[in-house]
Amino acid sequence: MTTDPAQGKLRSRAWFDNPDNIDMTALYLERYLNFGLSLDELRSGKPIIGIAQTGSDLSPCNRHHLVLAERLREGIREAGGIAIEFPVHPIQETGKRPTAGLDRNLAYLGLVESLYGYPIDGVVLTIGCDKTTPACLMAAATVNIPAIALSVGPMLNGWHKGERTGSGTIVWKARQMLAAGEIDDAEFIRLVASSAPSTGYCNTMGTATTMNSLAEALGMSLPGSAAIPAPYRDRQEVAYLTGKRIVEMVAEDLKPSDILTREAFHNAIKVNSAIGGSTNAPIHLAAIARHIGVELPVEDWETEGHKIPLLVNLQPAGEYLGEDYYRAGGVPAVVAQLIGQGLIHEDAITVNGRTMGDNCRDATIEDEKVIRPFDQPLKEEAGFIVLKGNLFDAAVMKTSVISEEFRERYLSNPDDLNAFEGPAVVFDGPEDYHHRIDDPATGITPATLLFMRGAGPIGYPGAAEVVNMRPPAYLITEGVHSLPCIGDGRQSGTSGSPSILNASPEAAAMGGLALLQTGDRVRIDLNTGSANVLISDAELAERRRKLEAEGGYRYPASQTPWQEIQRAVVGQMATGAILEGAEKYQRIAQT
Ligand code: FES
Ligand code: MG
Repeated sequence: MTTDPAQGKLRSRAWFDNPDNIDMTALYLERYLNFGLSLDELRSGKPIIGIAQTGSDLSPCNRHHLVLAERLREGIREAGGIAIEFPVHPIQETGKRPTAGLDRNLAYLGLVESLYGYPIDGVVLTIGCDKTTPACLMAAATVNIPAIALSVGPMLNGWHKGERTGSGTIVWKARQMLAAGEIDDAEFIRLVASSAPSTGYCNTMGTATTMNSLAEALGMSLPGSAAIPAPYRDRQEVAYLTGKRIVEMVAEDLKPSDILTREAFHNAIKVNSAIGGSTNAPIHLAAIARHIGVELPVEDWETEGHKIPLLVNLQPAGEYLGEDYYRAGGVPAVVAQLIGQGLIHEDAITVNGRTMGDNCRDATIEDEKVIRPFDQPLKEEAGFIVLKGNLFDAAVMKTSVISEEFRERYLSNPDDLNAFEGPAVVFDGPEDYHHRIDDPATGITPATLLFMRGAGPIGYPGAAEVVNMRPPAYLITEGVHSLPCIGDGRQSGTSGSPSILNASPEAAAMGGLALLQTGDRVRIDLNTGSANVLISDAELAERRRKLEAEGGYRYPASQTPWQEIQRAVVGQMATGAILEGAEKYQRIAQT
């Protein structure tokens, strides 16, 4: 009951125009007529275009998609399609308890069912807030019908007393001002709210700007569209153009599997380094890759991305915000800089039917303060490295945030600037950390390495953004503003502390972190890409045997049915933290 491309038949015809099954055809038709569509339209052979709507009152970041859908519909209609809009399970990064990480795979599951089980020939994915983008792209990869992504766009720049206030970044600053007694609670809330002056998603280079930029770098949205701020008129225009284009894509049978190739993912990894993208990107790209059936081992982040310099000067790594990023040229200007160095697979096909090279080659930087030319970067080697050892099989680290101060505190040998050692202090989940961080009895010194475990996809279902931990207050007052943090959870945005994140397998899956004890010495060696606890294999085996005898690493009970279901089937972050087994439903041929 799906497309037969050989006969040029749309899959929606199986519902609305199937002479072999007139009973069901009548049933399918009558209920889609009841809100005003006509028999003529539904049986005209026009493609049915789904608008996968992620915006709602529960999802303020994506709420503007409710408005943009009008322009999408006009574009779809004008190009000869029929629009059918439907909801996607809401995901609001800042609003969901215990963590929005749980909802990416749930929204994915729901969208797969909608796209597979209903008469939809092509789909517009309305992306935006952090996990809405991977959830939609993962589902489109699985069902593999023509799909195009439309970003909702970032909020306008936030301002307070003449300075830009960026999403998330301002919270960190406001917390310090509150702690220092410079502002009161009401001013704290005003200051934080100043960073959100309009509809749209986070205006910093957090996970949302990252993932919307990468959707464009993958070729899944129209060139130049990712960075347009939500309220700009250009955003309305690109919604209209996106609606028109998806109808053409159905006619051309241009599917996600034509666009989401290994080369496209490698382009996205390089762009992620150049924009200073989020450490959540490796998880989400791995998930999309697995659902489309592309090999993308986590090691590719180091081999493809580590050496690429940081070009985009956005908070939190830099100064500017979303409006500036758009005015400076957005994704095409960044891609053009990489093309100039031969770093991009130029012949990767994109949703407009043209190649990445043709779309971006001639894009210029309009403001070099915001997007730097390749030879004047903000930082060298801005990508991630991948570490492994007896604590985990894989974890990612941004080496560009390692400060001089850090190097001096942890160097094990003054002649080797890339090997660090220190004693571990271990926390079991965010609640344990909040409870004990400021207690001197916890034993944290300026030489400590902080560990967070029990925060992975199983331990804290969905994986919490809690690995970046601040030092205890008594050290902050002594001038120690960051300690290295290592853990099996994720990290929000970027932080000044050199964190080692996304450790897989997590403690809850009995990875090496489960065996670590406070006081153990740990060695991080960037020369060899290793992270090891310095105890013997025999001692580790003995600890494992004991822990297994006690029933394994303990984590809090599930609070909802979905938490329990997800925990039973979710994989580890190095491989995308997808629902294991879901990848086998990828349907290259619509048979
Ligand atoms: Fe939705 Fe940042 S909270 S994009
Ligand atoms: Mg986040």
